[in-house]
This record gives sequence, C-alpha cells and structure tokens, in this order.
Amino acid sequence: MKTVLKAENLRAFYVLQVAGRKKVIQAVNGVNLDIQEDQVYGIAGESGCGKTTLLKVLFAKADPPLQIFEGAVYYRENDSLLNAIELDSEQMRKLRWTYISYIPQGSMSVFNPVKKIKSTFLDFLQSHVQNRVKKELLALAEEHLRKLGLYPRLLDAYPHQLSGGMRQRVSIALATLLSPRVILADEPTTALDVVAQRAVLQLLQEIQKQLKNTIVLVTHDMGIHANIATHMVIMYAGKIVEEASTEEMFTNPFHPYTRYLINSLPRIGDKRVRESAPGNPPSLVDPPPGCAFHPRCPEATELCSSKQPDFVEVSAGHKVACWLYGGANHGTFT
Ligand SMILES: Nc1ncnc2c1ncn2[C@@H]1O[C@H](COP(=O)(O)OP(=O)(O)O)[C@@H](O)[C@H]1O
Ligand SMILES: [Mg+2]
Repeated sequence: MKTVLKAENLRAFYVLQVAGRKKVIQAVNGVNLDIQEDQVYGIAGESGCGKTTLLKVLFAKADPPLQIFEGAVYYRENDSLLNAIELDSEQMRKLRWTYISYIPQGSMSVFNPVKKIKSTFLDFLQSHVQNRVKKELLALAEEHLRKLGLYPRLLDAYPHQLSGGMRQRVSIALATLLSPRVILADEPTTALDVVAQRAVLQLLQEIQKQLKNTIVLVTHDMGIHANIATHMVIMYAGKIVEEASTEEMFTNPFHPYTRYLINSLPRIGDKRVRESAPGNPPSLVDPPPGCAFHPRCPEATELCSSKQPDFVEVSAGHKVACWLYGGANHGTFT
C-alpha cells in the first residue's frame, strides 16, 4: 500500500476582523492523516466540525480569510512525497486535476448557466491537454462520459436542463477527466433525493474501481460512509478523534462521539431510545478545553475537561483520542 495523501499536524484558521477586533476560527486544528491508494476514505462528523476546511487545505487551496499556520500536506510523486503547501503556482497547476481533484460542495457552480456543458468540458481540456484540436478534445470528453455510463449527448445540454443528481454526476465526470490519483468530494450527495444519491454513489464507486485511485469522501451522513467507505476518520471541532476501517468503526466504535453518530442512524422498526449527545458542535473561536466533546459526553470525567487526550492506537489500525482509551485512564474501560 502506498500513501497518496498525507497531512502532518495541519493547522488552518479563518482570521477575521470583526468590529475592529481579530477573530480566529480554529477550523483545522492539528490534523494528521495518512491516506493510502485504492480506497474510499470517509471523513465524517457533524456540520461545523471543519470537514470542508480540511478538504480545501488538502487541495492546497487556502484563500483568505483561511490561512495555513502550521503543518504539511504531502502528495506522492514517483517515490517521493512533495509538500503541496510549499509548491509554487506553476507546480501546483500541473498537479491539480491530474494528481488531485476537488469536487466542491454544491458543485452546480462549476458550470456556466448560459453555456452548454460542452463548453465547460472544452475549456477544462484546452487548459490541460496540449496539441489537440477541438474535435479531438470533444471526442475525449464523450469517451469519458461513455466509460462512466453517462450519455455523451449530455454535453449538448445547458446546466438548467439537467436534474440536480445528473448535474452532480456530470461535475464528477468533469473532475475525473484526467484520471486523478486522488479525488476530494465534499458532500456530493447532500441535497439530492435517495434515488439520485444512489446514482452518484454508484458513479463514485465505478470511478474508484476503474482508476484504482482514492476518493476522499466528506459527508455528515454515516449511512453513506457505511455504504461505500473502506476506511474512515471521525472529525470533531477541527480534530480527528477516531480512525479505523469502516467495518471496525461500525462494529467496534470507541469514541462516545462516534457511538453517538452511529446510534443516530435510523433503523427500520427500532423504536428504542437512543444514546444521546445533546447540543451542537462547539464554536471554533473558543473551543472547550481538554477534549472538545466533553460538554456533550455522557462519560466525561474531570480529566476530560482539563487535558486533551492523545490520539492513540488501541488495536491494530484503530486509533482514538479519548481518555476512556488512553493516557492516564488507560485500562479503566470495560
Ligand atoms: N469562509 C469562512 N469564513 C469564516 N469562517 C468560516 C468560513 N468557512 C467556514 N467557516 C467556519 O469554520 C468552521 C468549520 O467549517 P467547515 O469547514 O465548513 O465545517 P463542515 O464542513 O464540517 O461543516 C465553522 O465554524 C465555520 O463557521
Ligand atoms: Mg462542509
């Protein structure tokens, strides 16, 4: 297995001026990831936990007010790792869409509403593929759509003529034209109905199978992770709090936050009262001290409110940042 994307101690904050005072939102606060090739790598967590910000930083695209304060993001080139944050714009231009692609949330905005889909595909190909005439580029686009099970004649449509689900699939096709090794997809199924969701997920899985690449899938929907992620992490208040294979995460969740997310999933015919975690993720301007989840955690002790737990490997490949499973409290869980 090879690492295709790695984050080391990433810290990225939004720095705002509010009424003459500096306000810092600690959206990504010390994230480490080691993402391998040939995976659907899920990033889960409620809204406001920093998932979208993390994807932007992984794409090495931090526009103000977002600033990267610390850490590195590595892409693989042959046998070495390049720190994307240190690359100049020309080096980055070469890697974007060929090595790493980003499908932003609400990706409808990728298409120009007054132009046919074809023109977006052509613009994209013209800026990345040299020495080909328009007709050849169009043939490439058609061939790509066909390979993904989409009709080439979609290229002749205007964005508004497609359903939300179809537009999303076409935007995924666009982001995968140049066979990237890594695809970052932000909530690709949110706002779609169940049938359209299924079609989008099938398309992502098909692409992953064809390219044997890695899809980093961000969604707050644990049901989707259960369905298609092979490996996953849970994010809370700008930090990764648990990591495991998807199967392990769902059969043996450690962190009380992960258990809460899994327990919130609807199950047909099950009317039991669920373990609850009242409230919402905290403000990232002034996150709670210690473990940021402690104010909502049914198992929190005094230690949890004062000291941050380390991220420790509790069993093979299964890591968690929780005092129930490490540090001074090690061994107290049953
Ligand atoms: N452009 C922005 N300017 C200022 N704050 C932002 C911006 N985008 C996101 N945030 C804040 O950063 C935090 C993390 O947001 P985000 O990364 O969008 O989380 P998620 O994708 O998990 O919902 C939130 O507190 C959010 O309000
Ligand atoms: Mg988001």
